[in-house]
Amino acid sequence: MSSSGGIKRIGIIGAGKIGSAMIKSFKECFEDLEIIATGRRDITLRNAENLGARVTRDNNEAVKTSDLIILSVKPYHFPDVVKQVDESNWKGKIVVSIMAGVKLETLELLLKGAELYRAMPNINTYVRKSSTAIAHLNNAEHKDIVENIFSCLGSVYWVPEEIIDAWTALAGSGPAYITEIIDALVLGGIAAGMPRDLAYKAILDVLEGTVKLLRNNSKVHPLEVRDEVITPAGTTIRGLMILESYGVKAALMKTIEAAYRKSLSIGEKIDTYIRKQIGVEKSREHVKRSI
Ligand SMILES: NC(=O)c1ccc[n+]([C@@H]2O[C@H](COP(=O)([O-])OP(=O)(O)OC[C@H]3O[C@@H](n4cnc5c(N)ncnc54)[C@H](OP(=O)(O)O)[C@@H]3O)[C@@H](O)[C@H]2O)c1
Repeated sequence: MSSSGGIKRIGIIGAGKIGSAMIKSFKECFEDLEIIATGRRDITLRNAENLGARVTRDNNEAVKTSDLIILSVKPYHFPDVVKQVDESNWKGKIVVSIMAGVKLETLELLLKGAELYRAMPNINTYVRKSSTAIAHLNNAEHKDIVENIFSCLGSVYWVPEEIIDAWTALAGSGPAYITEIIDALVLGGIAAGMPRDLAYKAILDVLEGTVKLLRNNSKVHPLEVRDEVITPAGTTIRGLMILESYGVKAALMKTIEAAYRKSLSIGEKIDTYIRKQIGVEKSREHVKRSI
């Protein structure tokens, strides 16, 4: 257990998949931290309550009574939240949005007087192994507090906002790609005659071990480890030839690039949608970003 750095209560607006993962993790990290979580359906509120949060449907109360607020509704539900909360209640609050695509500039127009951050964690938040990128505007006076809270969920990286879409493609979506790759390798093991359970355990061990090896040699390029596995005319080089012939490496590179482009275009659409719902116009000049 560690200290929540002067933050007594966190409000989680939208205790869905990632919101409830955060409640679970924060409860593990910070003994005295109160969490107030919101949702619309009974099942959402019950689930959050079972994880140790106080629950309410009243977003206004959650914002008003919290020191730090995490916005974790789907982006297209964000206009409802804005309408439900008195404008004056955002003032002076530390607000971290984890909503994909919603720009700091838009948040700044809607949540007047708040100290704003835009974060992108991933689903590994469940086991406190998220890789979370966070961007902020110029008035970020409490970076240390935000970093302390989000470090509970895993690694934290401060980035300029323009990195967030690439981050979303690589680290936000990453667990989905890795699990696909794991599934394919398990199927390969089964095709070669292994029972599924054993193949699955084996590949998780291989992943964990390889990550540890790479982390312990942080200056080594990953391909140096690959070359240590290869024997002339052996098994591994035969497998690598197949990977090359199917263009697996190029496919993975294109996967991340395509996801990045999609993230960019969805971001534009979401941002435009939110501004239309709330009735604010685009104007980028007054916003200055910093790392
Ligand atoms: N899932 C991920 O891996 C991940 C990673 C990074 C960022 N994100 C971002 O996190 C956000 C949530 O994603 P998710 O996957 O957790 O979605 P989700 O499971 O659908 O959770 C969203 C929650 O918001 C609640 N909600 C909707 N409107 C609300 C309102 N007006 N007031 C209070 N609560 C409201 C919903 O409650 P009800 O269920 O009761 O309707 C739902 O539980 C998204 O913006 C997404 O971009 C997700």
